[in-house]
Amino acid sequence: MNPIDLETQIHSPNVSEGESNLSQRRSRWNSLLGSKTQEAVSRDANSFIHQSVSSPCMSAIKKAEGIWLEDYDGRRYMDFHGNNVHHIGYGHPELKAAITQQMNELPFAPRRFCCDVATELAEKIVGIVPGNLNKVLFTTGGSDAVETALKIARIATGRFKTLSFWDSFHGAGFGASSVGGEQLFRMGRIGPLLTGTEHVPSFDAYRNPFGIDHSRETPRDEEVGDVVANLIRFTLQKEGDVAAVIAEPNRAVPYLPPKGFWKQVRHACNEAGALLIFDEIPTGLGKTGQMFACDHDDVVPDILVIGKALGGGILPIAATVCRSNLDVCGDYAVGHYTHEKNPVTCRAALTTIEIIEKEGLVENAAIVGKWALERMNDMMDRHTSIGDVRGRGFLMGIDLVQDRESKEPATDLAEEVFYRCLENGLSFKISMGSVLTLYPSLVTSQSQMEQALDTIEAAIDVASP
Ligand SMILES: Cc1ncc(COP(=O)(O)O)c(C=O)c1O
Repeated sequence: MNPIDLETQIHSPNVSEGESNLSQRRSRWNSLLGSKTQEAVSRDANSFIHQSVSSPCMSAIKKAEGIWLEDYDGRRYMDFHGNNVHHIGYGHPELKAAITQQMNELPFAPRRFCCDVATELAEKIVGIVPGNLNKVLFTTGGSDAVETALKIARIATGRFKTLSFWDSFHGAGFGASSVGGEQLFRMGRIGPLLTGTEHVPSFDAYRNPFGIDHSRETPRDEEVGDVVANLIRFTLQKEGDVAAVIAEPNRAVPYLPPKGFWKQVRHACNEAGALLIFDEIPTGLGKTGQMFACDHDDVVPDILVIGKALGGGILPIAATVCRSNLDVCGDYAVGHYTHEKNPVTCRAALTTIEIIEKEGLVENAAIVGKWALERMNDMMDRHTSIGDVRGRGFLMGIDLVQDRESKEPATDLAEEVFYRCLENGLSFKISMGSVLTLYPSLVTSQSQMEQALDTIEAAIDVASP
């Protein structure tokens, strides 16, 4: 690509992830906002470095409570995105009280001092993760936790190569973007990235690149899963020295892994001496209706990465968890983060897990998520612009198409539906240009879910050609 083409690509709206903050619909939407909110958005745009799917922002919030957001003019949205941090709902009173108490008791622990609450959190996490994962390291964000996992894999195996999925996201750092496969984080002048980061297509059957004809009527998920698992095995064998396969066990788009897929990959990793790293930053702690997405498939990784909701939607904390025989980094500093054992973020995480358990939130996601998937299937019966619906627990997607035959993503329709839903009080995100991606808080009730799906269906009704 010559430099002029590259400039055009960088400055034209990119919808590979979500709606563009440069589109005409965004300008129209901004004009519908109340004056105080408009002013907040404009001050934000003046102060912050502009970037895709961030500033300039689509709105401003003054209040976040439970599943609700409220802007500066009193407009309210049910938040079906929440960056997947709001599992327990925004501003849970018990969490706020626990954080306040912790700040009063012990506000910080400088490096090389340990504290009880950090140890208690590590013990708690070891108690809920699958299998024999029992050594923990905390970071402030998910991208750093992913990179910590990559460093552990390098040191443990003496290898540096990785294998991951195209279109995946593992964070915005250079290492995380290198194993990620999403164009927005890799393209153009961002590189060069890490070397040795091989990629394969993911297990998404709906738009698979293998020419396997999949539809709701003739599902071919397992066939696609077999092809991708074979490709992974083949690549591991050909390379011969891959340190780790890193993936989200349930892609957050969402794409669900075909039955038996992860067992095959686990086996291929064992054969090739590669580690298996599961990134459960968005899916962990109950989002899919099990405590971890990999629990559905009964496959235990060598390293598990969690984050986002771990801080209860108030504080940033993530964790890398591995088997004790991967505790081999004693001579290195692999995750030397200032807030590694911050007692306040650790208290937030410990209390969040306790709330998830006490309030039965994983079960709620499983039950209401199942109901929602049935309703989404009914919607698909009524609307030909819905090409596919997918979901597990509260990780759900409605894939809009120009026609069911070609499966061409209906990016324009998705954007129109998105803004109509915002106007009617529902916020979510669009993934990969055309997937209405719904990540409700785990406290969302069935009637709230019904209200949200009614809003989406009404928007599809009006906006469909
Ligand atoms: C699968 C996955 N991995 C990693 C990350 C990065 O986490 P953070 O934004 O906390 O760095 C994200 C964030 O969206 C994610 O969805």
